[in-house]
Amino acid sequence: MLRRLAVDHSQKGKRFGELMLIDALKKSLDATTQVASVAVITEALDEEALSFYVKYGF
Ligand SMILES: CC(C)(COP(=O)(O)OP(=O)(O)OC[C@H]1O[C@@H](n2cnc3c(N)ncnc32)[C@H](O)[C@@H]1OP(=O)(O)O)[C@@H](O)C(=O)NCCC(=O)NCCS
Repeated sequence: MLRRLAVDHSQKGKRFGELMLIDALKKSLDATTQVASVAVITEALDEEALSFYVKYGF
């Protein structure tokens, strides 16, 4: 489960959110060599967060 992925207000729009999301997905994929996995689930904080995750296919 992905939670509390956040970028400081002053740094928004600099692709840090995307970097952190891709990094988390890569780490999840790496972990599948040791732990059986089915999916990555995220609980969006609000509608704004939801639209960010939807943009990346969640
Ligand atoms: C959501 C959040 C992590 C995005 O981080 P960011 O660094 O500002 O976003 P990025 O610069 O990496 O944006 C990458 C792409 O996502 C898009 N995007 C960013 N926020 C978006 C949103 N809320 N809805 C839809 N698209 C969004 C950008 O426009 C950009 O799109 P592009 O490829 O077409 O240019 C950040 O706004 C944040 O911390 N929000 C508050 C906390 C939060 O809601 N976290 C989620 C917890 S569940």
